[in-house]
Amino acid sequence: MAMVLKKRRKYVLSKWLKTKALLGNKEARAHIPDTRKFSKSTLRTMLKLYEMVYVKPEIGTHGKGVIRVEKRAEDKYTYQLGLAEKSFQDFESFYQSLLSDTKKKSYLIQKGIHLVKYKKRRFDIRVMVQLSPEGVWETTGLIGRVAPPEKIVTNYHSGGKLMDVKRLFVTHLSASKTDKIIRKLDKLGVVTAKHLHKKYPGIQQIGLDIGFDQSWIPWIIEVNTNPDPYIFNKLSDKSVYRKVMRYKKAGME
Ligand SMILES: Nc1ncnc2c1ncn2[C@@H]1O[C@H](COP(=O)(O)OP(=O)(O)O)[C@@H](O)[C@H]1O
Ligand SMILES: [Mg+2]
Repeated sequence: MAMVLKKRRKYVLSKWLKTKALLGNKEARAHIPDTRKFSKSTLRTMLKLYEMVYVKPEIGTHGKGVIRVEKRAEDKYTYQLGLAEKSFQDFESFYQSLLSDTKKKSYLIQKGIHLVKYKKRRFDIRVMVQLSPEGVWETTGLIGRVAPPEKIVTNYHSGGKLMDVKRLFVTHLSASKTDKIIRKLDKLGVVTAKHLHKKYPGIQQIGLDIGFDQSWIPWIIEVNTNPDPYIFNKLSDKSVYRKVMRYKKAGME
């Protein structure tokens, strides 16, 4: 009799596969921006629908190769990669240039979120969710990531600054609204982890990149299955870092 061994992968690299898996959960789905495979026709369609989109490698990290694309007016397109911005007067030359910047890799295109800012800089939140030593999914840490001025990605490894979440929120929100949002992020993290774990049982921890739009709706920009735990050492509350590391070690045994 043939035996089928299901591979228990610890990490899922493809942002496409992770997005597809999460769309199967009602609660998570409500917080996932429209995401499609990059092609000439999805680019055209998505820009018509949203005017601003992000184009990013299907497999990638640290914000590398992430592009912010805008349709400014009929036949006026711009995009930004790193600090460089390019403008075009027609769709065809815009598309050809974008193609040369995306090389031959597989890319995704995602509805752009107009992220809430801190001192004019975009920010998002990393939500760390881990299996506890008792085997229960738990949100263990939150940390804010603030993009350098003029940059379109918040990643620490692209120059983003790590900050306490409450310090980021305090300039915009009341204390009670802040607490409410933090509880919402906790819950969204656990729901997402549980659902992904059903499909990929080898996963022990995830890190969600969550951005807020101008109405303070949280959007799951990305889910990492190999999230960096060391960023939490930057928080003044050292108990967060200690817990993250304790759970991580328990998961490796
Ligand atoms: N749809 C989007 N809307 C707004 N910002 C985005 C979007 N997609 C990506 N970004 C920004 O780019 C960063 C990197 O994108 P991400 O999808 O997390 O890829 P990576 O794996 O390189 O971290 C995000 O943390 C966020 O700051
Ligand atoms: Mg990311």
